[in-house]
Amino acid sequence: MFVVIIFFLSPLDNTEINTALTQTFSAGRALILGPPGGGKGTLSKRLVRDFDFAHVSSGDALRNQIAAKTSVGSQAESYIQAGSLVPDDIVTSLVVDELSANSNSSNLLLDGFPRTLDQAKALGEKYQVDLVLNLDVPEEEIMSRLSNRRVHVASGRSYHLIWNPPKVEGIDDETGEPLIHRPDDTEEAIKDRLETYRSLTSPLTSYYEKQGKCITFTGTESDVIWPEMKAAVEKYFEEE
Ligand code: AP5
Ligand code: MG
Repeated sequence: MFVVIIFFLSPLDNTEINTALTQTFSAGRALILGPPGGGKGTLSKRLVRDFDFAHVSSGDALRNQIAAKTSVGSQAESYIQAGSLVPDDIVTSLVVDELSANSNSSNLLLDGFPRTLDQAKALGEKYQVDLVLNLDVPEEEIMSRLSNRRVHVASGRSYHLIWNPPKVEGIDDETGEPLIHRPDDTEEAIKDRLETYRSLTSPLTSYYEKQGKCITFTGTESDVIWPEMKAAVEKYFEEE
C-alpha cells in the first residue's frame, strides 16, 4: 500500500498542527524506543539498510537545528545539554515537519519520538503507529556506552572507544572528518537523561503494549538483539 499524508502547519502557532488530509495507512510505520544509549541509532541504521525505512530521529533533527542556529535550535540547546527533554510543543512540531518531508516513503521509522505520553497521543492523532520496537538495556551498560561514544555528525555514525573504535583516533573512518563527543554525553547529563527516561518515557512501553503493538528486546549487545529484531520485522511485513 502507498501512503499519502499531507500536513498543513499553522504559520502563526506551531503548537497548533492541523491535518488537512490524511489518507490510507502505511505499509510500516515503526517506532524504536529505549533508554539513552540503548542502541536506537545503531539498530536504526540496520533497519534502514535492510527494510528501506525512512529514518526520522528527533535528537538528530534537534541537533541539526542547533547547528543551523535556528530559533528552534536556540530554544532547544540548553535543554539538550542538561539532559532534559525539550518541551513537547517544540519537538512535536519539528517531528511533524520531518515526517511530512518524508511522506513519500511507505516505511517510516521514528527514533527518539515520542518520549512522553502527550507526544504519543499527539502522534496517534495524526499517524497510525503499526509497530513498536522497544529496547530494554540495563542501566549499568549505558554509562560506559555513552561516555565512550564518539559521533560523526553528518552521517550519524557512532563509534565506541573500546568495542568499536575508529581506525584513527578522533577521525571518521569513511570521510576522514572529525568525530565529536556529544555535549550531553557527560556523566552528569547521562544521569539526568536516565532519570528522565525512567519517569517520562518508560511508561510508553505499557501504553503501546496495551495496543498490542510493542515488541521488547532485552540484552546488552546490539549484535545479539539485531537478528531477533530483524526476524520480528520480517514477520510483521509477511503478515501485513
Ligand atoms: P537522542 O539523540 O534521541 O538521544 P538519546 O535517546 O539519549 O539516545 P542516544 O542517541 O544517546 O542513544 P541511542 O539509543 O541512539 O544509542 P546509540 O546507537 O548511539 O536525544 C538527545 C536529546 O534530544 C534528549 O536528551 C532530549 O533533550 C532531546 N530530545 C530528543 N527527542 C526528544 C523528544 N521526543 N522530546 C523531548 N526532547 C527530545 O548507541 C550508544 C552507544 O553505544 C554508541 O557509542 C554505540 O557505539 C554503543 N553501542 C551500541 N551498541 C553497542 C553494543 N552492543 N555494545 C557496546 N556498545 C554499543
Ligand atoms: Mg541516537
